[in-house]
Amino acid sequence: MHEIIQQLDEKRKKALLGGGQKRIDNQHAKGKLTARERIELLLDPDSFEEWDMFVEHRCTDFDMEKDHVPGDGVIVGYGTLNGRLVFVYSQDFTVYGGSLSEAHAEKICKVMDQAMKIGAPVIGLNDSGGARIQEGVASLGGYAEVFQRNVMASGVIPQISMIMGPCAGGAVYSPAMTDFIFMVKDSSYMFVTGPEVVKTVTHETVTAEQLGGATTHSSKSGVADLAFENDVEALMMLRRFVNYLPANNKEKPPVWPTDDRADRMEASLNTLVPDDPNKPYDIKELILKIADEYEFFEIQPEYAKNIVVGFIRMEGSTVGVVANQPMVLAGCLDIDSSKKAARFVRFCDAFNIPILTLVDVPGFMPGTTQEYGGIIKHGAKLLYAYAEATVPKVTVITRKAYGGAYDVMSSKHLRGDVNFAWPSAEIAVMGPKGAVEIIFRKDIGDEEKIAARTEEYRQKFANPFIAGKRGYIDDVIMPHETRKRVCRSLAMLKKKDISNPWRKHGNIPL
Ligand code: HXC
Repeated sequence: MHEIIQQLDEKRKKALLGGGQKRIDNQHAKGKLTARERIELLLDPDSFEEWDMFVEHRCTDFDMEKDHVPGDGVIVGYGTLNGRLVFVYSQDFTVYGGSLSEAHAEKICKVMDQAMKIGAPVIGLNDSGGARIQEGVASLGGYAEVFQRNVMASGVIPQISMIMGPCAGGAVYSPAMTDFIFMVKDSSYMFVTGPEVVKTVTHETVTAEQLGGATTHSSKSGVADLAFENDVEALMMLRRFVNYLPANNKEKPPVWPTDDRADRMEASLNTLVPDDPNKPYDIKELILKIADEYEFFEIQPEYAKNIVVGFIRMEGSTVGVVANQPMVLAGCLDIDSSKKAARFVRFCDAFNIPILTLVDVPGFMPGTTQEYGGIIKHGAKLLYAYAEATVPKVTVITRKAYGGAYDVMSSKHLRGDVNFAWPSAEIAVMGPKGAVEIIFRKDIGDEEKIAARTEEYRQKFANPFIAGKRGYIDDVIMPHETRKRVCRSLAMLKKKDISNPWRKHGNIPL
């Protein structure tokens, strides 16, 4: 017995040291924390229960049978995050570069399976050189086992990937199938093929950072949702982020206590929308001013900035916000913004998070770039996402709601539950100038006539009343009372329960 305990101690010591002090020092020298340090920072103190510390690889090629590190390059288990259960895996770059062996994959699968049984989020801290080269196809099989679980867990439990080192080749596809990808600047990258292959095939010279760094993916490709300065900031923000999410698709998001009154008035909102309909304003000001404690957790702030998405709380409960941003491209919907918002809406719908939509949209973006890029299909994604969503949907039109974009942005017709308009709302097929140039084409050149027609159109349509007359708008509200009215609507909708017809799955225009 004594001997066994001694052996156990030795194995534990070896496992805790991962690939050894030298490699740990190397990891620190790169500004990175070790896999264990990361788990310690992420979870509540002393809450981590580790599994499979003694798992070893089974490879016998390339002298691998002589080299075993208990744990085999990934630390897995569960713990609490602000008191709530989460499952975690954290790849240890000091052990074979965090590469994924068959045994390493089995450990990840074990926590994913358990998380599914319990109904709790899975957080992956990725730092890996990819498939364990010595293991060949066994490693590829391991990846596919993880992929399959990612897909089965999609929409059932939240899955979050934090990329904290290399993530290349087919390995990128596990994070790609999770709900959110966060990255650390300068120390993480994701690409399907690295700079050398790119140089050979396309003759482009590019660094790893330029090709697949955190800034690239959070601003250019949209693959990543957020980019953080370093490991510590990333893990602290991840803790804040998880607070917004429910444990699974059968639960509601957690309610956090707040002293912020639901009927708080914000007089400054009365002057947010400028008199000149072509002048921009920052929609984030509205989001912040109606949120509990002025807090907004924005997702993809640097990508497709013409639409803003993220989480706020109202009366302590999570609300997903989707808002056109008049400051960028006048708030037009284009390919990127449609995809960004559609994915967000679907996440909220899958996880019982009500959606608040703030509308100021002049329409879809015109042009060959957009048409050739398939704006028809991509725009349809957002339309589809809103139309299929069964969670509570509250909409506030602050200014423009023109054309197809009016329909798309959680209109009454797409089962919007409560649709408000500010007095500054203009709900019409298009803006006055464009409309007059089409229906009074014969008057073009006669400036006086055109001006009179434009004014006539403005008087008739550039207001919320036509839509109000038909019941497309439930009420015209004063900007300063927006928080109160939205909170009341969400409270009324708490028990909303509708479902879509049975089907294997819909066919969203991918
Ligand atoms: C086994 C690996 C490894 C791997 C790294 N190591 N990657 N061992 N399999 N895939 C080991 C190294 O031998 C080294 O061991 C240690 O990890 C650290 O690696 P370094 O190269 O010294 O580190 P660094 O200079 O920081 O470079 C990191 C790296 C590089 C860029 C990740 O190691 C690299 O390019 N690795 C290979 C990446 C790769 O091609 N993976 C397969 C991709 S295909 P020692 O003992 O010296 O510390 C793939 C397919 C997945 O993943 C398909 C899924 C469907």
